[in-house]
Amino acid sequence: MSEPVENYLDSLFAKDSDLERVLEGIRERGMPEISVAPAYGRLLTLLATLARPHDVLEIGALGGYSAICLLRGMPPEGRLTSLEIREDYAEFARGNLAAAGYKDRSETVIGDASGSLERFVREGRRFDFFFIDADKENYPHYLEQAIRLARPGALIAADNTLLRGRTIDPGKEGPSVMAMREFNRRIAQDPRLTGAHLPAYDGLALAVVK
Ligand SMILES: C[S@@+](CC[C@H](N)C(=O)[O-])C[C@H]1O[C@@H](n2cnc3c(N)ncnc32)[C@H](O)[C@@H]1O
Repeated sequence: MSEPVENYLDSLFAKDSDLERVLEGIRERGMPEISVAPAYGRLLTLLATLARPHDVLEIGALGGYSAICLLRGMPPEGRLTSLEIREDYAEFARGNLAAAGYKDRSETVIGDASGSLERFVREGRRFDFFFIDADKENYPHYLEQAIRLARPGALIAADNTLLRGRTIDPGKEGPSVMAMREFNRRIAQDPRLTGAHLPAYDGLALAVVK
């Protein structure tokens, strides 16, 4: 989506103190300003409202912005687990989730997501909703692990499928681009999924696990 369109749509949503706290903290700490946009966050809330997930797994917490958006749509008994490789980011996200009233309904797990996902598979954990928003080279791996961890009917959402145009640029063949093309193909073609691609924002994939 073009930046003016994105800015217009984001401007429609009222400022929100819990989400503003996250964004201000990110700026103060010099963290990357790569949280989902306000209108995108509302879409996550809407999807969680429709899916009514009991257990949500987010890969890539940063400051907890998208986690708060997801929790807002979840039923009161729903719990969110977020995976974050950086301890300082995870601590910051935990603080923001607590300040937003979600301390008892969320956990932020520190470490490389691949290791956490392997552990969850061993422990027999199951989830109803996944939001993939971390290192792009591992998207195909995260998708495979999400399918293993999914209850039937689980929803998978993933951000940045277009990599700001690099995904469709034939001149680009770096590891993130190659991984994203593979991920996008699987969303469209994997027989275990009913997948769809939306050319919104930086590309958004949605899939239901059959
Ligand atoms: C785009 S940001 C997440 C933004 C967040 N979902 C939001 O919208 O509020 C990606 C995050 O993934 C984390 N990350 C990157 N590689 C990771 C890995 N291998 N395991 C876990 N987290 C990782 C980064 O540290 C960063 O905080």
